[in-house]
Amino acid sequence: MSEPVILETVEAMRAWSRDTMRAGRSIGFVPTMGALHTGHTSLMERARKENNAVVVSIYVNPTQFGLGEDFDKYPRTLDADRKLCGAAGVDCIFAPKNLYEKDAMTFVEVGALQDHLCGISRPGHFRGVATVVTKLFNIVAPDRAYFGMKDAQQLLVIQTMVRDLNMSVEVVPCEIVREADGLAMSSRNRYLSERERKLALTIPRALDACRAAIKSGERDAMKVVGDMANLLAENDAVEIDYCAIVDAHTLEDVKNLKGDVLAAIAVKIGKTRLIDNAGFERL
Ligand code: PAJ
Repeated sequence: MSEPVILETVEAMRAWSRDTMRAGRSIGFVPTMGALHTGHTSLMERARKENNAVVVSIYVNPTQFGLGEDFDKYPRTLDADRKLCGAAGVDCIFAPKNLYEKDAMTFVEVGALQDHLCGISRPGHFRGVATVVTKLFNIVAPDRAYFGMKDAQQLLVIQTMVRDLNMSVEVVPCEIVREADGLAMSSRNRYLSERERKLALTIPRALDACRAAIKSGERDAMKVVGDMANLLAENDAVEIDYCAIVDAHTLEDVKNLKGDVLAAIAVKIGKTRLIDNAGFERL
């Protein structure tokens, strides 16, 4: 597999995309913040199958981090990332140093979807995500863009933004990739101590409990959420940010489990914030 080319400027990236497009080659795009793992490479492999060329962006986007969040210590592992991209058949890595003008004043907001779940404890987060993804789409000009269902709210925000602003890109949702023991892969898992890593398993267990309850016919959302929260709260070291079952399209809380719903969890273990979810369709 040949090494991916690394481009650091907007101009170089635009020129690469223009040449690729002119050669009649479709572009699949995977936006990331680096610290890549198998969750990310699954998106790249899907993009590889469905397009002639694959671009991965690696940019730790400052506007989606709040005060006191982990922007400064977010893992930056470009050498290892480059190898993973190479093995996944990526053609081009876009790794800009900075994407914002000092006096940038234009931002993208996706209405009420940002008032739920992660949007409550991370005000401004989705505005930062929607803005940087818009910028990346404008620079890379992909035919298809690949997003993980691990970040279900982010995926919905991007799908809605693309629909509302008539962006000419197809958003492709990709399954959550998990460790063998069920923990969803995340760049932030590397912050966890051995003890915290074990405690983190209560997250997929709570989602399994939800799955089992729904399978057995339980339709009372409060009851299922209560049982999930009890599981998460078993150890004091797990601090629940939210544990909810919401409408999968509006992200509003539901009373009865019917239609398309999303069970979503965010917890803090020590200093590390982890999220996970499970979707249920046509209940
Ligand atoms: P990042 O957290 O690096 O994630 C990049 C992409 O990988 C996202 O679409 C995310 O959902 C997906 N991903 C992460 N872990 C996954 C897993 N275990 N299984 C499947 N997919 C997984 O999300 C971001 O970066 C940023 O917000 C970004 C969109 C790049 C904007 O800055």
